[in-house]
Amino acid sequence: MRVLVTGSSGLIGSNIIRILNRKFDFLGLDIIKNKDLPNLDTIIDNALNIKDVISKIDYVDAILHLAANAPVTTPWEKALKNNIIVTHNIFEAAKINGITKVVFASSNHVVGNFEFVHPYSDIINGNYNQLSPGSYKLIDHTVPIRPDSQYGISKAFGEASGRYYHEHFGLDVTCLRIGTFNTANKPTDIRSFSTWVSHRDLSNMIELSLKNSENFNIFYGVSDNTWKIWDIEHAKNTLNYSPKDNAELYRNE
Ligand SMILES: NC(=O)c1ccc[n+]([C@@H]2O[C@H](COP(=O)([O-])OP(=O)(O)OC[C@H]3O[C@@H](n4cnc5c(N)ncnc54)[C@H](O)[C@@H]3O)[C@@H](O)[C@H]2O)c1
Repeated sequence: MRVLVTGSSGLIGSNIIRILNRKFDFLGLDIIKNKDLPNLDTIIDNALNIKDVISKIDYVDAILHLAANAPVTTPWEKALKNNIIVTHNIFEAAKINGITKVVFASSNHVVGNFEFVHPYSDIINGNYNQLSPGSYKLIDHTVPIRPDSQYGISKAFGEASGRYYHEHFGLDVTCLRIGTFNTANKPTDIRSFSTWVSHRDLSNMIELSLKNSENFNIFYGVSDNTWKIWDIEHAKNTLNYSPKDNAELYRNE
């Protein structure tokens, strides 16, 4: 399966491509070269130009769309250009070129405002007193969107676009509301004891998303953390997601 990965030189792209290298035929697309994967076949271009870029590629079975301004603090002008317009162009290019599968890197920040509501606010801040894991309702894929930032709005736009292109043009679209994926590959602050996703768990979710024909769906990209606030049962039941990691194992480090 030939997969075009936008944002292939970034943190998630580099790690996922390395882990899943033997399972997919990856083609990268980024504005910068990937220093860690010098042998990766990569188109150096702006994903804004995806329609021109893709017409010159022999064939692609699926797109893993990671390219974006990733910080939650991304200002509106950049979110508009690099997240909203780029993502729209990706779906449009997929439609025009008959690429039926798109996996979109959405974000937990689409529902980030739940983190101001009890009990999630306490858990995110590490105040676990009078709470026990499993005793509170997890935030699942059916809750209303509650973006916490311009960045969150831009990712909600991507999800809405995905649903539109699925319902009107039949694309298979999987939106992953990714938690905290970091270089250290372990929780590094209090919040990430809830939100962390390990490299191998997100790889598992992306592999399954690329192979699955799920029509349109939204999953939370988070490990099986004791204090998670987002649901993973939907991903387990629908995708066969099988997370191996739990942030709690790092609590005493
Ligand atoms: N890392 C996380 O914890 C996390 C959490 C939630 C969602 N995400 C999402 O996952 C995706 C990847 O995140 P990351 O942490 O690897 O970010 P990153 O910043 O490390 O990588 C993003 C890559 O996209 C490239 N890029 C940006 N705009 C581009 C454009 N217009 N054309 C071509 N390439 C472009 C950058 O050069 C960079 O290599 C992003 O969409 C981000 O919003 C990440």
